[in-house]
Amino acid sequence: MAAERTLSIIKPDATRRNLTGAINQRFEEAGLRIVAQKRLQLTRAQAEAFYAVHRERPFFQDLVGFMISGPVVAQVLEGEGAVARNREVMGATDPAKADAGTIRKDFAENIEANSVHGSDSPENAATEIAFFFSQIEITG
Ligand code: CMP
Repeated sequence: MAAERTLSIIKPDATRRNLTGAINQRFEEAGLRIVAQKRLQLTRAQAEAFYAVHRERPFFQDLVGFMISGPVVAQVLEGEGAVARNREVMGATDPAKADAGTIRKDFAENIEANSVHGSDSPENAATEIAFFFSQIEITG
């Protein structure tokens, strides 16, 4: 599989508990390279725009409120099949259903405060990376 890039977000539940380094270690141990990274406080408008695809879902407003409840760390991960690899490392959306040894099993609090976001396809990864980063901020 070719090297590709995916967008990762370390969410407010994880930054609040000082888990950025522990989570980054999981990525690096899995062969994913952090080629861009920044910590920021999302505005409500930015969080709504990022999750626009979920606008009609019943959990949308709660999700937006959670994502602006503290700082997040947005990052670009690069590696062989990075989108799928990152989804394996993260585990299922609901930590109660996540496999042992995954980030969400080990760190997430619940389905909303689930510690990390990862792009679900290479197409969405390109869109999500462009949401947070300009080309000059990404160094392989
Ligand atoms: P994420 O990968 O960031 O994409 C959308 C997020 O919505 C998801 O992770 C969850 O944190 C959040 N979410 C909250 N409730 C639900 C739910 N019932 N089903 C799916 N996602 C949910």
